[in-house]
Amino acid sequence: MRPRIVCHMMGSIDGRLLPDRWTPPARGIDRASLIRHYDAVAARFEADGWIVGRKTMQAYAKGSARTAFASGGARRAPHVADRKGRDLAVALDPRGVLHYGRDDAGGDHIVAILGEAVPGAYLAELREDGVSYLFAGPNGKDLGAAMDALGEMFGAKTLLLEGGGIVNGAFLRARLIDEISLLVYPGLDGLSGGPGIFEGCGAPEDMPSAGLALRFVAAETLEGGVVWLRYAIERA
Ligand SMILES: NC(=O)c1ccc[n+]([C@@H]2O[C@H](COP(=O)([O-])OP(=O)(O)OC[C@H]3O[C@@H](n4cnc5c(N)ncnc54)[C@H](OP(=O)(O)O)[C@@H]3O)[C@@H](O)[C@H]2O)c1
Repeated sequence: MRPRIVCHMMGSIDGRLLPDRWTPPARGIDRASLIRHYDAVAARFEADGWIVGRKTMQAYAKGSARTAFASGGARRAPHVADRKGRDLAVALDPRGVLHYGRDDAGGDHIVAILGEAVPGAYLAELREDGVSYLFAGPNGKDLGAAMDALGEMFGAKTLLLEGGGIVNGAFLRARLIDEISLLVYPGLDGLSGGPGIFEGCGAPEDMPSAGLALRFVAAETLEGGVVWLRYAIERA
């Protein structure tokens, strides 16, 4: 069964995603303690893991490509490595761009979601690293099938979708987000064009949220002035 998906993000007042660009907190308030609210609130969901796009996972994937697997074969079966009871760190990497060199991201077990066209040698590299993987259709973008597989193969009941904006937009379009958990950081970016919370790709007349409605769940003001907003996503 497909896990429940909570899109958990921290954004500036103007909805931007790059914390290094945000204005500093008001005098007497510690920036690090504001940012720490993100993980503290995430823990309150008691999720089975988190999901990020290829660009966001790049911060954890510091390995390099290996050529030793030139004859990796054409096996396209999903692979479940040794999870060792850890939460899941799910990377949406349709083209198999990331090289991990390890089996964890921030202590959580890496699961790569791939397109079926990735080379067999790349799969062999992931197996050697101890990384699990599964396939999201020929181009790696069948998110519904991937979420079903995460539920079936790993028993995931709740997963946090943690950006960036491009994959959040893809999940929104695919109607796979059950709830939005947004931490509003008391700061501004101020520039147009930077990544925002939902960055759906499409023509100007396209309306990826058409037919959806948000139902208020809760709001909480956290120490230092971060505001935590929760909305369930329903069919309008
Ligand atoms: N403030 C926050 O809470 C927060 C949270 C997360 C990230 N961030 C920041 O956001 C930035 C990255 O965000 P981003 O939006 O540019 O990238 P992203 O969403 O992290 O990654 C986008 C990539 O994911 C891959 N992808 C997998 N499935 C896809 C699908 N169904 N549709 C489209 N793409 C899919 C594509 O990789 P390919 O290009 O290889 O095809 C795409 O380019 C980083 O700087 C990160 O630090 C901030």
